[in-house]
Amino acid sequence: MTRHQYLNNCHNYRQDIIDRFEPAYVMEKFFSDDDLQTLMDYQFQNAKRVKARASGMNIQSVVSVQRMFRENQWLTDKFTEALGEFDEILTGNFYITIMHHDAHVDLINEDEENDPVFQNLIPWKSVVFPIFLSDNADCYTAFMHQRRIGYAATFDRISLTDQGDSSYKLFRDYDGFIDINGNPLPSTNDSPGWSEEKYPIIPKENFSGFSEESIFKQRMGDVMVFDACQVHASCQLPGSNPHWMKNGMNIQFYKTVT
Ligand SMILES: [Fe+2]
Repeated sequence: MTRHQYLNNCHNYRQDIIDRFEPAYVMEKFFSDDDLQTLMDYQFQNAKRVKARASGMNIQSVVSVQRMFRENQWLTDKFTEALGEFDEILTGNFYITIMHHDAHVDLINEDEENDPVFQNLIPWKSVVFPIFLSDNADCYTAFMHQRRIGYAATFDRISLTDQGDSSYKLFRDYDGFIDINGNPLPSTNDSPGWSEEKYPIIPKENFSGFSEESIFKQRMGDVMVFDACQVHASCQLPGSNPHWMKNGMNIQFYKTVT
């Protein structure tokens, strides 16, 4: 197959991708308690292996999201009814963590692009939802105005990390951002909305160029929906309980192109 086919698709279908942009939102009470228990069990019963990072205080059971959907038709039905049609190729992962997450975009990475199954895709929607939250957990996710069409990305202007253990592309230069209408957003030194309490693992310099579109609280059963190209990060609202553990999942949905 042609290398960079996914990036070519992103280029050729750029306007289609932009036309589907919309503000992030929450589908309340999307999953029942039984649904969540099924997903909770699935990650342990079907893990091929487990990734654990002491530095990130993060444990991930590695499962195939595609296989999970194949084996659980109700998931395909439920998300198709709520979101619309999507390609059978999906990406995503489970996580268990007590730590915040930095600003990033979850999409296909450069390694995955070489896999022929990804050649007819363009990015569409992402979802993130909790499967388990410890008592009185105050966990929030912030969705930025900034969108970026391309690979999975982590944004680290000041070289905080070398991310040797992540397949996400690391961006030192914050260029290529567009807004919800596809207009270019220049890289700036402003960090509107940032405070250390709110974004404990994102230094102010790394937040510069980002601005919040919305912040939602993680609630059991609710599902946050956002543009797969949309930058997001976890955050801690002032005065909220910063001591929590969460088990959750993110899934990326793609549209098929021919
Ligand atoms: Fe994410």
